[in-house]
Amino acid sequence: MTDTAAGQVDHVLAEDRLFPPPASFAENAVVATQQQYDEMYARARDDRDAFWKEQALEHLHWFEPFGDVCQWDAPHAKWFVGGKTNASYNCLDRNIDQGRGDRAAIIWEGEPGDTRTLTYNELKSEVCKCAAALRQLGVQQGDVVSIYMPMTPELVIAMLACARIGAIHSVIFAGFSAESIADRNHDASAKLVITSDGLYRRGKVLPLKKTVDEALEKSPTVEKCLVLRRTGEKDTPMTKGRDVWWHDVVDSQSDDFPAEPLDSETTLFILYTSGSTGKPKGIRHTTAGYNLWAKRTFQWVFDHRDDDIYWCTADCGWITGHSYIVYGPLSAGATCLMYEGAPNYPAEDRFWDLVEKYKVTVLYTAPTAIRAFIKWGDEHVEKHDLSSLRLLGSVGEGINPEAWMWYHKKIGGEKCPIVDTWWQTETGGIMMSPLPAITATKPGSCTKPLPGVVPIIVDETGAPVGKEHGGMLCIDQPWPGMLRGVWGDEQRFIETYWSLVKGKYLTGDNARCDSDGYYWIMGRIDDVINVSGHRLSTIEVESALVSHESVCEAAVVGRPDDIKGQAIAAFVTVTDPNPGEELRQALRQHVRKQIGALAQPDDIRFTAAVPKTRSGKIMRRLLRDIAAGHEAVGDTSTLEDYTVLAKLREQDA
Ligand code: PRX
Repeated sequence: MTDTAAGQVDHVLAEDRLFPPPASFAENAVVATQQQYDEMYARARDDRDAFWKEQALEHLHWFEPFGDVCQWDAPHAKWFVGGKTNASYNCLDRNIDQGRGDRAAIIWEGEPGDTRTLTYNELKSEVCKCAAALRQLGVQQGDVVSIYMPMTPELVIAMLACARIGAIHSVIFAGFSAESIADRNHDASAKLVITSDGLYRRGKVLPLKKTVDEALEKSPTVEKCLVLRRTGEKDTPMTKGRDVWWHDVVDSQSDDFPAEPLDSETTLFILYTSGSTGKPKGIRHTTAGYNLWAKRTFQWVFDHRDDDIYWCTADCGWITGHSYIVYGPLSAGATCLMYEGAPNYPAEDRFWDLVEKYKVTVLYTAPTAIRAFIKWGDEHVEKHDLSSLRLLGSVGEGINPEAWMWYHKKIGGEKCPIVDTWWQTETGGIMMSPLPAITATKPGSCTKPLPGVVPIIVDETGAPVGKEHGGMLCIDQPWPGMLRGVWGDEQRFIETYWSLVKGKYLTGDNARCDSDGYYWIMGRIDDVINVSGHRLSTIEVESALVSHESVCEAAVVGRPDDIKGQAIAAFVTVTDPNPGEELRQALRQHVRKQIGALAQPDDIRFTAAVPKTRSGKIMRRLLRDIAAGHEAVGDTSTLEDYTVLAKLREQDA
């Protein structure tokens, strides 16, 4: 074997299973035939403006028509120029105008078991009241509102209320620390914070307002704080003149507050995403293009039908919640299940209990959850009737083929297509995914691009690498849902995303396109391991480990090695409570058999858990430091559980 060229990645793990879409699915599907997809794809690529003009006119409400469809002066895009619309109007009023007012928009269940259903009419009334309250509290168009709340309907109401008056929401996941909230308030110059007294998590109450108070000591731009009573904490501190209760200022407002006609390019929200190092970036999305992208991708990928009960298990603190709990499904008039709490409270079958109870038809979750379910054992799944499910989705990380197979068999009963959706905070919505009625799936592949997405894979010089070669994934054309910038940091926007190949968006992921035109995401560019000049993708080695019956989860990183450049270090969680040298050797052999000697891990460390971000992604950056015998440095504020890191350090000592 010769050395791999810079920027390319070797593909080493073979996967040749193919799952055709169920024939019955095509009936009434949103995208029902290959020909339909091919035509849409070709039009979106070759006649971009005409395609998106049609989509925008049909699928959004316009107070005033737009002129140019897309003005593209790379890396700056403007979509539906000069038009006026409103995302809250598209999610609420438009559905009501079209006769869906009495349909359930949100079916909600709290962690303690309390429930609430809001129809589109009721949701609109609540959003109007909250919008009026925000106005009364001095929030103007263009002001930033930070939202730090549990997964209650009021979180969605707050987001849509901001959208209704043209305020910019910045949702901060309710697991972040006071320091992280203060950083985000400061970066965005937030004017108001919406929070709650507390949050239920695994039966305990976390005092959110106290955390916010600590943050507000360092947030001089914040003038007011709106507080929802959720847990009924007795000693919730309220600062006079600054803090007000939701029930005091929202409930008494009029339930009719007209949506503000907003320019298409009005900032709808910013959402902070952790860079692998350094401070989080405020990714900026705007109104019309984002709304259209979220709505259409939702309809295409989840094959939305009127009688679906759709459940996305993400938190609104992440982009998945923004696009596929709020803006996508609600503008499509869907009925969404929303759940507040942990998947293992009061027991490990809570998700399956919810699926059975509400007869969920479409379930969208993450590989980290799927791996946890596998670890917890099939008995929790088998207790429940999951026959209502017709479609399954995955997002957030690559799904190891064996986890895919488990999801397919145990949750989908071998009858539900799996849509493995690849996208990013920056892309606003799904970019590559199977379409359930037409795409034959391969476990571990996000399959094909959606209409409007033109992927290219390049090496470090920006030259295309060709089929079957791994390289850096870029997107060649603007699409409506693309980020419009990094809040307050134009230079970071350009350097991070637009500097490798001029005019092409650099995703930061490696990928390979196989000879059938299927895409395989190979992990972050920074995570590539270079063993003796061969550049290996973390996900392939991890998937080989996970395919061993004893392994629940694996995280693989490179560590410096005098001879090979880098050696492979693997951190694995296993079912065996007392793993030893024998299993270590067996795992080495297993990877050797699956991939080859090159990918055989040099170190295998058994661990109770691997460090993850709060959104469930494996943090390989920290493991690299540990594998190299260094103190883990860099930003750890997005780490989910600090004790995991401490335990790994102890093991090391
Ligand atoms: O590395 C890819 C991985 O998650 C990154 C985006 O993370 P974030 O902005 O937090 O958005 C997560 C929700 C869209 C990507 O650059 N990723 C996401 N989905 C997949 C994935 N990797 C492989 N397969 C996926 N389906």
